[in-house]
Amino acid sequence: MTSTDIRVVVAIDFGTTYSGFAYANKINPEEIETNTRWSGREGLPKTNTALLYDANCDQVLRWGELALFQEQRRKKNQDAEQFHIIERFKLHLDNKMKQKPQLPIMFDYKKAITDYLIKMKGVIEESLERRWPGLSLKQVLFVLSVPAEWLPYTRAVLRECVFRAGFIDEDTHSNLEFITEPEAAAIHCLSVCNEHDLEENDTFLVVDCGGGTVDLTVRTLLAGNKLREVTVRSGGLCGSTFVDDEFLKFLGRKVGIKALGAFKEQAYEDLQKLIHRFFCRYVKLPFTGYEDEFEPIELDLETNCSALIPYISGELKDKLEEEDWIIDIEYDDVKNMFDPAIQTIIRLIDAQLNSVPPNKVKAMFLVGGFSESPYLTRRIKESFEDRVQTIAFPRNPIAAIVKGSNYYLIKIVINVKIIYSYIPLLFRCCFIWPKHASN
Ligand SMILES: Nc1ncnc2c1ncn2[C@@H]1O[C@H](COP(=O)(O)OP(=O)(O)OP(=O)(O)O)[C@@H](O)[C@H]1O
Ligand SMILES: [Mg+2]
Repeated sequence: MTSTDIRVVVAIDFGTTYSGFAYANKINPEEIETNTRWSGREGLPKTNTALLYDANCDQVLRWGELALFQEQRRKKNQDAEQFHIIERFKLHLDNKMKQKPQLPIMFDYKKAITDYLIKMKGVIEESLERRWPGLSLKQVLFVLSVPAEWLPYTRAVLRECVFRAGFIDEDTHSNLEFITEPEAAAIHCLSVCNEHDLEENDTFLVVDCGGGTVDLTVRTLLAGNKLREVTVRSGGLCGSTFVDDEFLKFLGRKVGIKALGAFKEQAYEDLQKLIHRFFCRYVKLPFTGYEDEFEPIELDLETNCSALIPYISGELKDKLEEEDWIIDIEYDDVKNMFDPAIQTIIRLIDAQLNSVPPNKVKAMFLVGGFSESPYLTRRIKESFEDRVQTIAFPRNPIAAIVKGSNYYLIKIVINVKIIYSYIPLLFRCCFIWPKHASN
């Protein structure tokens, strides 16, 4: 396939917690449209990276937001074991993660990725058909973003999944490219460089704080809105869902680790509701980190997670019964849930800043859903405001990756190269230069 056959570029952000896509036609490359039509999440740039399978883990019953929160789909007398909710399966591609998110026994995470992409493909086809009737997938170039630290084999795995999902050319697999997430984020941030008075040869750091990973890259602005990579991009498993994990550890201490483990096995959906509808909504998202603003939060198990109660036993049960099944969440509890992830993010930023001369980095841009956390942003500002002149949060932090990826590829299709690198190939272990960019 040549770039002249391509009419449309579709960028897919396959995220740990949320996924989405954006598209643009090469005739109007600046008009990048982010899909916001999702069942259950109308108007938002991404939907949940979640699948609901039948008892045999064969058929996908629901996907996206509906996989997690479709009420009343369980008929009377059917128990939770007849369904399997699969989430955070992207992290199974990360070879560094010791304790991978739980999957049903003998279930291959690649099936989940493929099934998820099949569902996503349905929405992509609908969107493209609406905008450009008759367009064939052969005229579409897909770009998929991947975390900075992923090894090359993960791209081969993803390519296979994308192929099985029916996106790409059977013979050549040639209508698929990859971009790293920080690279896509950096391109998205190009649009705000002038708002912060960045000029040619100025250098900035981009930190994509997602649900699973946090990815960083340092870039220098070149003439004509182009970018040069300055340091080796880096990343870590310290995204926002690791705060959720700390909440579960806290809960395990209150109700018993065994009780929580059994509950997780048998009533995963109820646990997810507790995380998303109680913890994220009332504890994680609003947490500012200011002690004087913090009001202790009551987790009333009877209202928020009554299904957990029968699993609790012994002294912990007696204690909780006495306290009317209310667990108090204090300031220090929440701070301790955030701090491990935040400390890792601060270390990653520090390492990137240390790898360039002092004061070289003029601006730091934070994108990704976790960058919406008032506590994380405050901690980052406090830690780095004396080393980096501008610390900013560009618009659309959650759609940054799809927008950046799309812009990158559409420019390549119309023969404009926007990324330059002088990092030796040896170190750029997870970057494959797109074929179309070789001229
Ligand atoms: N105010 C907030 N405080 C803390 N976390 C937040 C806040 N707002 C959103 N998040 C978290 O951001 C995450 C989603 O961000 P994003 O969509 O960038 O991640 P992702 O693309 O799914 O993950 P990754 O890029 O790591 O694969 C969710 O875990 C969500 O709970
Ligand atoms: Mg992401």
